[in-house]
Amino acid sequence: MQLKNLILAATAAATVSAAPTDGQKPFGVLAIHSGSDVQNSGFNAAMSSLFAGLPSQNASCARPEDGQTATFYIKDSELYLYDQSATPQKFYVDRSGMGQGKIGYTTGAQQPPKNAEQKGWSVSEQNYLQFGGKSLIACPNSIDGAWSIWASAGVDNPAGNENCVGIASRVIESTNPNGCKYTE
Ligand SMILES: *[C@@H]1O[C@H](CO)[C@@H](O)[C@H](O)[C@H]1NC(C)=O
Repeated sequence: MQLKNLILAATAAATVSAAPTDGQKPFGVLAIHSGSDVQNSGFNAAMSSLFAGLPSQNASCARPEDGQTATFYIKDSELYLYDQSATPQKFYVDRSGMGQGKIGYTTGAQQPPKNAEQKGWSVSEQNYLQFGGKSLIACPNSIDGAWSIWASAGVDNPAGNENCVGIASRVIESTNPNGCKYTE
């Protein structure tokens, strides 16, 4: 139901000319890779990680019935999860040999891992979410049948995953964003 709404919104968004590049406007994200099962899966945030196609992300949301996909915003090239609360949830990327492109998020005063980068997020002219100017990677067979989402660190199948695919991450502006606290 919610996913269907996102796809409808994607169709509508395609007709909008100018995309926000580094604004405060909250947005959802759809994974795009035609011919793959990840196609049109909404991005989710759970357990301090980023997924697509999670059946249930178990976040605490202002509108719980509407909380099946994650809502993001970019500020100063940093990516956050959208919420009304004062406790920020902010993404990092670990492109080191250890992290291999791991994307995670911290909650409040938590420190990201040693090699983490927080700046580098952007929305391309074609309206795709990128890190370091590069598109993202989705790997199948993560928790609850979802795909885990990775940044490109020059490793096609990061962290022992198999059958990962490059995806375009279509940004869809949220007109009525749902504030959520996502699980740590
Ligand atoms: C959400 O909660 C359900 C029920 O407890 C559980 O089966 C599922 O794995 C949880 N999902 C995540 C992403 O934590």
